[in-house]
Amino acid sequence: MTVPGNRFVPTDAPVTTDAPVAINTLVTSGASSANDASITHDTPAAPARSAPPPGGPDASTDVIRPHAEAAFAGELAALAAADDRPRPERWRLSPWAVATYLLGGVLPDGTVITPKYVGPRRVVEVAVTTLATDRALLLLGVPGTAKTWVSEHLAAAVSGDSTLLVQGTAGTAEEAVRYGWDYARLLAHGPSRDALVPSPVMRAMAQGMTARVEELTRIPADVQDSLITVLSEKTLPIPELGEEVQAVRGFNLIATANDRDRGVNELSSALRRRFNTVVLPLPATHEDEVDIVVRRVDQLGRSLDLPAAPSGTDEIRRVVTVFRELRDGVTADGRTRLKSPSGTLSTAEAISVVTGGLALAAHFGDGVLRAGDVAAGILGTVVRDPASDRTVWHEYLETVVRERDGWQDFYRACREVSV
Ligand SMILES: Nc1ncnc2c1ncn2[C@@H]1O[C@H](COP(=O)(O)OP(=O)(O)OP(=O)(O)O)[C@@H](O)[C@H]1O
Ligand SMILES: [Mg+2]
Repeated sequence: MTVPGNRFVPTDAPVTTDAPVAINTLVTSGASSANDASITHDTPAAPARSAPPPGGPDASTDVIRPHAEAAFAGELAALAAADDRPRPERWRLSPWAVATYLLGGVLPDGTVITPKYVGPRRVVEVAVTTLATDRALLLLGVPGTAKTWVSEHLAAAVSGDSTLLVQGTAGTAEEAVRYGWDYARLLAHGPSRDALVPSPVMRAMAQGMTARVEELTRIPADVQDSLITVLSEKTLPIPELGEEVQAVRGFNLIATANDRDRGVNELSSALRRRFNTVVLPLPATHEDEVDIVVRRVDQLGRSLDLPAAPSGTDEIRRVVTVFRELRDGVTADGRTRLKSPSGTLSTAEAISVVTGGLALAAHFGDGVLRAGDVAAGILGTVVRDPASDRTVWHEYLETVVRERDGWQDFYRACREVSV
């Protein structure tokens, strides 16, 4: 059973959230990085991590990956205190403050809200606004475009809890979406509320919170359809008890779906109509993508005690260049057409390659990220199919990387791992 059973609140006892607090105005800033100023390229020894900037993730926990609401509790509290705009029922923040939490900004008291999502402001505004309507939100996009990431942060900012989550797979059963039973109780006492195990969706309905469904299109069509009544009638009938759980105000649902899974379990048109679809694009520019990678690698590195990422910014730029060129099928200057490999080369993969490289640099090098630390990671990501991808990679290496000014160390490092 996927559902921890201790959060269920019966329909007649919805959870209330804090009343709006201090009156103040927020000042948003662009998505530029506070870290960028400290980026250097030729630091000779392993750079020590400086204290985290004001705002940003709270790292005072031993958990490997705290939930967004725990990791950014300080930012969320600061936003709640400064937020004087109207909040929809049971929302922790106003829609505007939720958007600021995602996109970043500076509060009047100087608290820096770090950008979680780097991308078009309008995309975030539409996503947040959808959650305040009676339509659910479907985040759609190619792999690695931060659908899961945005969904988690939206739930954390809106409801203060991103854990009401159903992970969609081909084996997701109806109980995971609706409710299941504690069979020991069911056999001993028959069907009752006590024997019922609510799904995260049912709990979110009862508490007026945000539910999340990951990878909606991997869920078999008949199970997906059990969401139709939830989303259109805002109720979940329990025929065994002759009861229903009615959604209270504040309830909504965020689903994610991957473009690549299109056709696996197509959304029925009845279900699609219940969603507002927001497509998350790939990072528009090279600079945006480098910015995302530097930020995320820095956050991940903190939890793994890795050296600070800025020392490797040259290398990060190269990883991003390679991935973008192979993904787009053309070099950055537009001159050479390239074949694209079979696998995904998204920002998420670039983040993994750089994090892996930093670990190599930390444990087997001098802590400074170099070409040799990322080469193996790039190869492993690009060459998923040993036959066709290897040819694509070799062509790219010999026709593009080899000829590029200042890339000789990178070319040599890639050659070394490619043989
Ligand atoms: N535009 C972006 N802004 C901020 N972070 C991003 C962006 N694009 C990708 N990322 C980062 O990429 C990583 C992967 O994102 P995530 O897992 O949410 O992707 P996804 O779209 O859910 O992928 P999949 O389709 O494979 O499930 C996250 O660490 C996220 O921070
Ligand atoms: Mg995802």
